[in-house]
Order: sequence, then C-alpha cells, then structure tokens
Amino acid sequence: MDLDLWTEKYRPPTLGGIIGQKSIIESLTKFVQNRNVPHCLFTGPPGTSKTTAAMAMARDLFGETFDRNFMELNASDERGIDVVRNQIKNFARIMPAGDAPFKILVLDEADHLTADAQHALRRTMESYAGSCRMVLICNYSSRIIPPIQSRCAIFRFARLSDSSITERLKYITKKEKISANAAGIQAILYLAEGDMRAAINLLQASASAGETVDDKVVFAIAGRANPKAIKEMLDSVGENYEESLEKLRALIYQQGVSPVDLARQLHREVLKLNISENRKMAILERTAEAEFRIGEGASGEIQLSALLAHIGLERGES
Ligand SMILES: Nc1ncnc2c1ncn2[C@@H]1O[C@H](COP(=O)(O)OP(=O)(O)O)[C@@H](O)[C@H]1O
Ligand SMILES: [Mg+2]
Repeated sequence: MDLDLWTEKYRPPTLGGIIGQKSIIESLTKFVQNRNVPHCLFTGPPGTSKTTAAMAMARDLFGETFDRNFMELNASDERGIDVVRNQIKNFARIMPAGDAPFKILVLDEADHLTADAQHALRRTMESYAGSCRMVLICNYSSRIIPPIQSRCAIFRFARLSDSSITERLKYITKKEKISANAAGIQAILYLAEGDMRAAINLLQASASAGETVDDKVVFAIAGRANPKAIKEMLDSVGENYEESLEKLRALIYQQGVSPVDLARQLHREVLKLNISENRKMAILERTAEAEFRIGEGASGEIQLSALLAHIGLERGES
C-alpha cells in the first residue's frame, strides 16, 4: 500500500469515518452490532466508497483479528474458475481466527468473473457460509448471475454529493497544510462528477505544483477545458462564428484539450443553455454524433466546428 497516495492515506478506516452513503452505512453498522453479516453485493460507479465500506465493516467487526479474518481479491486479475476453486475456497473453508463469528472475503470486480466461475462461486458461498461471508463488488449488478444476486443483500452506492466531496477535500487540505481556493474546489467537483477517488487524486496532483490550488491549475493538470471557456465559445457562436472558432482552436491546439473531451464538455454546457426544448434536443443529437465520429477517428477540429456551426444556426433562430 502506497501511503504517498492520498486516496490510501485518507481512506476512512472505520464505518464512522465514511462521509455520505448514510443509509448504507446505517445498515452495515447494524450488521456489525449484531455480529452477523449476510453475503453482500456492493454495486455502483467507481470512487463511491464500495471497497472502503467493505474494509471498514470488517475492521469494525474483527478489531485485532482483522488481518487474519479478512481477505481481498480482485477478480479481474484472474477471471477463471481456478481462482474460485483455489484461493477463495481455501480461505472460505478454514474456520475464523480468535472469537470472530466468521471471516469476510471481499471480491472486487466480481462482474469480471466468467459465468462458470460465478456458478462455482455460488456453490462456495453456500457450502462455507458458516465460516465465511462474501462481499462482492462490481460496477454493474446486471453482470452478476441471478442466483448470486438472490443470495446477497444488495447495496447500491450512488455518486457522492458535492458537499460530501467538498468536506473531505477541505479536511485533506488542512491535514496536508496546502491551500485550495473556492474556484479550485469547484473545478475538482466539476471534473470528479461524484467520484471521491478522482477528486482526491486531482487535489493531490494539483497541489504538487506547489501553489494555491485554483481552477487554472486543476483544469491544466486534468487537461480539460474550463467550463467558462466552453460557455464563452457557445455564447459567441450565434453572433460571431469566427471568434468562437478561434476559441475552439485555442482549446485544442494551445491548451491541448482532447476533442472527445470537448464534445462531452459541450454536451454538459448545452444542457444548461436557456433555449427551447426542441432546439436543445436538436443540438444534443448533433453533439452525440460529433462525439461518436471523433471517437471513430474523424478530425476533432472539423467535427467540432461543424457542431458549433449547427449550434449557431439553431441559436440564431431562437
Ligand atoms: N465516503 C467516503 N468518505 C471519505 N473518503 C472516501 C469515501 N469514499 C471514498 N473515499 C476515498 O476515495 C478512495 C476510493 O474509494 P473506494 O472505496 O476505493 O471506491 P470504490 O467505490 O471504487 O471501491 C478511498 O481510498 C478513499 O480515500
Ligand atoms: Mg473498489
């Protein structure tokens, strides 16, 4: 474990330290109090506390015997049935150490297991439920076979709110004795989109420049456009197409923002435009088209200037 990484250094060790995810944490805390944990399935987007919550629950439950009763495996390394046959089974069938009621095995990226391996896993979950409870973690629960889903308590982790992320970022800036201004935090929130890991990593990378973390540093480090610049480009498009093209070229060629990211950022800004629903829908359709074509290898400048032209025409008539 690399403690130089703030995501590891500041991973809350206990359930009480986890910010947000309130109702999930309440349920997990009850499991710990009753000293009984069902097999669990944690699903949700990256950076939303799934691994953190699984580890914290086990640490709260086991205390001193955590190391002997807890194991974490990542299914994406070795997807096959052999992992289930060997590592998982060997851990699950041995009785817990100390006075622990059972052991806990966390299987990260469980949705990467093949269907065969999942069926073997289901049998292991049943055979050794007395000595071992599993916490399966995945991004999409639909990729887990139904017989496993029906044997698990399912917890859906939502993206973290901006206020939860802000609270954590402020705590870290204080501990690390760095400074971040409001615009810097706002920029991190815009880019992280509810992913706490992304937010903390951005803070750390931006802070390593050694100055106050502001929006300029954050967008430069991330290689993304300030949404203000996107907004300005959109605002000028109806009146002065040439000027908005210049802004586009500056973003691509001077700031080095990738065209596909620009298409996605444009999408976000278009959603906020104050125009009729119909025009907005027409523009969004074109945005998706441009994003797809750029992904397929078409020229970013050509696709995005066509998109801007379309937006200009739509706006000109509104
Ligand atoms: N609710 C939270 N409160 C505080 N820090 C958090 C929280 N959720 C995640 N983090 C931080 O973000 C990092 C990634 O979280 P993690 O639980 O590994 O996400 P995932 O959902 O992808 O498993 C952790 O190391 C921790 O530092
Ligand atoms: Mg994880």
